[in-house]
Amino acid sequence: MDLVNITIDGEQVKVPKESTVLEAVRGIGIKIPTLCYHPEFRPEGSCRICLVEVAGARSLVASCVYPVNEGMVVRTNTPEVREARKAVVELLLANHPEECLSCQRNLNCELQKIAADCGIRKVRFDGEKKNYPADAANPALVRDQNKCVLCGRCIRACSERQGVHVYSFANRGFNTTVVPAFNAGLHEAACTFCGQCANVCPTAAIVEKDDTKEVWEALHDPKKHVVVQTAPAVRVA
Ligand code: FES
Repeated sequence: MDLVNITIDGEQVKVPKESTVLEAVRGIGIKIPTLCYHPEFRPEGSCRICLVEVAGARSLVASCVYPVNEGMVVRTNTPEVREARKAVVELLLANHPEECLSCQRNLNCELQKIAADCGIRKVRFDGEKKNYPADAANPALVRDQNKCVLCGRCIRACSERQGVHVYSFANRGFNTTVVPAFNAGLHEAACTFCGQCANVCPTAAIVEKDDTKEVWEALHDPKKHVVVQTAPAVRVA
């Protein structure tokens, strides 16, 4: 394996030549917050939360997509880096629903944790809120685009891991969404309800339905949905 020498926060390390800066930094136990990055999928570098300083680079760089090279000097925790990450998170929070206490992912939300880790106690920006209806007309999942941070992890889980390709980005700018083709509900798409999208979603933009009674009724009412048989039928005496 070819190695390169780099310096991370003053420490000299050898890392595989094909590493990203994020992999190199995490490899020596330094924490960097990430949102769009997921170790199983190809990195996209879209959220910009993983910013670090690289000597000689014209601006802060997204460490999850920035390759290491011989002699590189990386700084992960300067005041500029911390302030830039904080501003990125605040911009996400500026148009995020303010309903953490009643949210299904409360205390299990990556955005909430990153905001706390960045020391955000007050959001400086007051952004426009989105107002999409929830997509819940299926037996298993609830999609709430108002809570989507456009990390694209659901798209990559569905395509790269599952090979199903239900989701893609649609529209532009503030109106960008992640939707099944033709903005259909999941019950109209090729979704197999494997739940991998909910599994990798960092917020509550896609969650498993937690209303057990409703799910049970929907699963067993052939007029509402196709019956999903999860175990062999057993005759009750
Ligand atoms: Fe690196 Fe999103 S985690 S840009």
